Amino acid sequence: MLCLELVLLGALLLGGDSAEAPQEHILFHIIQISSFANQSWTQHQGSGWLGDVQTHGWESESGTIIFLHAWSKGNFSDEEMIDLELLFRVYFLGLTRETQEYASQLHFGYPFEVQVRAGCELHSSDIAESFLQAAYEGSHFLSFQNMSWVPAPEGDSRAQSVCDLMNQYEGIKETVHRLLTSTCPRFALGLFDAARVDYERQVRPQVWLSAHPSPGPGRLLLVCHVSGFYPKPVWVMWMRGEQEQWATQQGDVLPHADGTWYLRVTLDVVAREAAGLSCRVRHSSLGNQDIILYWGHHLSAYLILLAVAVPLLLLIVLALWFKKRCSYQDIP
Ligand SMILES: *[C@@H]1O[C@H](CO)[C@@H](O)[C@H](O)[C@H]1NC(C)=O
Ligand SMILES: *[C@@H]1O[C@H](CO)[C@@H](O)[C@H](O)[C@H]1NC(C)=O
Ligand SMILES: *[C@@H]1O[C@H](CO)[C@@H](O)[C@H](O)[C@H]1NC(C)=O
Repeated sequence: MLCLELVLLGALLLGGDSAEAPQEHILFHIIQISSFANQSWTQHQGSGWLGDVQTHGWESESGTIIFLHAWSKGNFSDEEMIDLELLFRVYFLGLTRETQEYASQLHFGYPFEVQVRAGCELHSSDIAESFLQAAYEGSHFLSFQNMSWVPAPEGDSRAQSVCDLMNQYEGIKETVHRLLTSTCPRFALGLFDAARVDYERQVRPQVWLSAHPSPGPGRLLLVCHVSGFYPKPVWVMWMRGEQEQWATQQGDVLPHADGTWYLRVTLDVVAREAAGLSCRVRHSSLGNQDIILYWGHHLSAYLILLAVAVPLLLLIVLALWFKKRCSYQDIP
C-alpha cells in the first residue's frame, strides 16, 4: 500500500494533471495460480494489482471479476469489463481442457501448480513495457515475447513442446499481444487516475465516547470511537490536559463497506479519575482543528439538562395548577 501511496503522493506533489504523462512508473499486473490436482479437479485463482494494492479478485465458480474498490473499473465501461470477463472465462475453461488433454502426453504428473504473472509497466517517458511469464511448479517455464511463446532458459523439453504447441494459434497470440500492449496500458492509466481521485478524497471522522463494563472493581474502560474517516492515517490519543495517556490502547483500523475507516481507542482508568480526560483526534480532513471530546462532559450535559428541565417542569405544573384553580373559580 505504501508504495502506491508514495507514487500517488509523488504525482500530486509534482502537480501531475490527468492529461499529462505520469511522473512515476505505474505497474498493473494480474496473477493467476492454477492447481491441477488430478485429471478431473482444477482450481483457478486470479487477482489484479496496481502497484502493491490489490484491485481485483476472480470468482472462479461464476467466472466473474471481483472489483475490490469503487475505482477498480478505472475508466473502462461496463461493456468493456464484461468483454474482458468473458475473455478470462473462456481462457480458464480452455486452459483446464487443454491441460487435461495434454498433461499425460507431455509428462506433467499430477498434482501440479501453474502460476502466471502478466501486466504492464508505464514510465514517465510514455513507454509501456509488457510482460507475461508462466511458472510450472514454482520455476520459470515460459514467457510471451514479440508475438510468440518462448521457453524459459531453465525450462526443460516440456517447455519447448508447450511453446511449439501454443505458437500454432495465431489468433490467441494476437489477442494476448493486444491485451498486453494496448488494453493493459490503457486500463492501468485509467485505474491510476481513478485511484488518485480516490486518494485525494478527505472524509471527516465522527467521534463519540462510551464506557464499557469496568474491567475491575472501581475501574472504567473508556472507549473513543472514531468512525468514517478517509484516508486511513489517523492519530487518536486519550489526554489529560496536554498530557498524552500512555496506557491508551489502539485497536485495529477496520474498514467500512464504503471504503472509509473505523478505529476504537480505549483507556482503562480508576473510575473517579475519569473526569477531565479527553479523546483527541488528529486527521488530514480536519486540518489543524483536532477534535477533542471530554469525558464527563456528556455527564455535565445531563446535569445541565436536569437543571433546566426540573424548574421548567415545576413551572408547567404550577401553571396547570393555577389554570385549574381559575377554571374552578369560573364555575358558578
Ligand atoms: C481429485 O482431487 C480432488 C481434490 O484433491 C479430490 O477431492 C478428488 O477426490 C480427486 N478425484 C480423483 C478422481 O482422484
Ligand atoms: C522483438 O522484435 C524486434 C523487431 O522485430 C527485435 O528488435 C527485438 O530484439 C525482439 N525482442 C526480443 C526479446 O526477441
Ligand atoms: C482511459 O484513460 C486512458 C488514459 O488516460 C486513455 O488513454 C483512454 O482512452 C481512456 N478511455 C478508455 C475507454 O480506455
